[in-house]
Amino acid sequence: MKRRDFLATASAGGILASLPLRAARARRSDVLRVAMIGTGLRGQSQLGPLLSRDDVELVAIADTQRVMLDKTLRIIADAGRRRPHVYGGDGDTGAWKRLIDGGGIDAVFICTPWEYHAPMAIAAMQARIAVGCEVVAGITLQDHWDVLHAQQRSGTPYMLLENVCYRRDVLAVLQMVRAGLFGELIHLQAGYQHDLRGVKLNSGSPDAPYGSGVEYGDKGFSEAQWRTQHSIDRNGELYPSHGIGPCAMYANIHRGNRFTHLNAFSTKARGLHDYIVQHPKGGPQHPNAKVGFKLGDVVTTTLRCENGETILLQHDTSLPRPYSLGFRVQGTRGLWMDVNDSIHIEGVSPPHAWQDAQPYLDRYDHPLWKRYAAQAAGAGHGGMDWFVIHAFIEALKVQAPMPIDVYDAVAWSAITPLSEQSIAEDYKTLPFPDFTAGAWRQRKPDFALGQAW
Ligand SMILES: NC(=O)c1ccc[n+]([C@@H]2O[C@H](COP(=O)([O-])OP(=O)(O)OC[C@H]3O[C@@H](n4cnc5c(N)ncnc54)[C@H](O)[C@@H]3O)[C@@H](O)[C@H]2O)c1
Repeated sequence: MKRRDFLATASAGGILASLPLRAARARRSDVLRVAMIGTGLRGQSQLGPLLSRDDVELVAIADTQRVMLDKTLRIIADAGRRRPHVYGGDGDTGAWKRLIDGGGIDAVFICTPWEYHAPMAIAAMQARIAVGCEVVAGITLQDHWDVLHAQQRSGTPYMLLENVCYRRDVLAVLQMVRAGLFGELIHLQAGYQHDLRGVKLNSGSPDAPYGSGVEYGDKGFSEAQWRTQHSIDRNGELYPSHGIGPCAMYANIHRGNRFTHLNAFSTKARGLHDYIVQHPKGGPQHPNAKVGFKLGDVVTTTLRCENGETILLQHDTSLPRPYSLGFRVQGTRGLWMDVNDSIHIEGVSPPHAWQDAQPYLDRYDHPLWKRYAAQAAGAGHGGMDWFVIHAFIEALKVQAPMPIDVYDAVAWSAITPLSEQSIAEDYKTLPFPDFTAGAWRQRKPDFALGQAW
């Protein structure tokens, strides 16, 4: 059996889920041949951790834009690695299909605009190419079912590359949750609270992607080319996984627990319009001052879980604010909040007082970080990008289940269309689909995050 077929078959039958990890490890593959579709700013930032690995060969890349491919080829050459096959560069939005059909690829990283994630992942899985997909998994609810069914039918490994699950404090808090420090979990909070005004709007210059103007679409560069349109057309929790990923790990979602209900509220939209009007390159007469934005400046989504917890998410990307994912992990004995780096544990902390979280984070530092902090240093987002790539590659090499699997991916990401539906239907509370078809009851809290990778 060819290596790629074996990867697919093993995952399909869930054979390895029941094997001891050490047995799985023994069947180590050699160098993985990987490809990347979408070599924009995210793809390029993922090259560092990828090219630093001697168990990975980047054999093919695809993008619609020459400028992105050229930047990528320069990074690859500077790293002293072999030039990959190049697809696209001429505006052809279908060039990626030739990459998939070209064969000789074990795994593909999908780092394109959101609307391409589902079709690209489905085509790759059907071709038995393992998928590492950037957040999100799809756009519509049906996309999420389609991704799930493609994975189930093909058995090809699929992982959502949700890097925040690997943030050092997030993982230390996972250790605290599992040690029972907070008692029984009651409520979780998080979100995507990141001022993206200068990302969604820029001058279109490849040398100045942030804050350089008020253009978008064809006149913009990088995410301004596509992400802004989502703020014009859609109103919902558009980027749930950075917040819900860690919360789902804490609450053991799909491992004895599941989301049961969701509703969402949205504020009015002011931030992006004001930014255009007030920017030195904009102004009230600028054509984009007439653009209407559907996305509320702050969208608040609440989920209820089978075991009685609530999870509150906030999407807040159009107003002036410092970056914060706003984590709060609260149980019967205390809570952690990341905004003020503080913790309170009953019987340990002074009554009604916060304590500095750092000594706790140090004490509960995750074994992964203890082991790999030096290797991860310098990778994007404080090192966590190194870990998410490491997890995907290591799981593939030993044909182990993906640490963030297709059920996690589709449930976390389906929050977007469900929140849009809730808002559109007068903030209605909706039942949350059970993508696992009841399997969440039997599955154990075995996030590989708690294992060697
Ligand atoms: N996990 C994280 O921390 C993180 C950070 C940034 C971005 N992202 C995600 O990464 C993805 C890419 O974001 P980005 O910031 O790199 O955006 P980007 O606009 O800089 O890059 C997207 C690239 O995809 C290319 N592209 C568009 N259509 C294509 C097609 N049909 N075929 C091939 N290539 C195509 C574009 O030309 C561009 O180079 C998004 O899903 C985004 O949400 C994740």
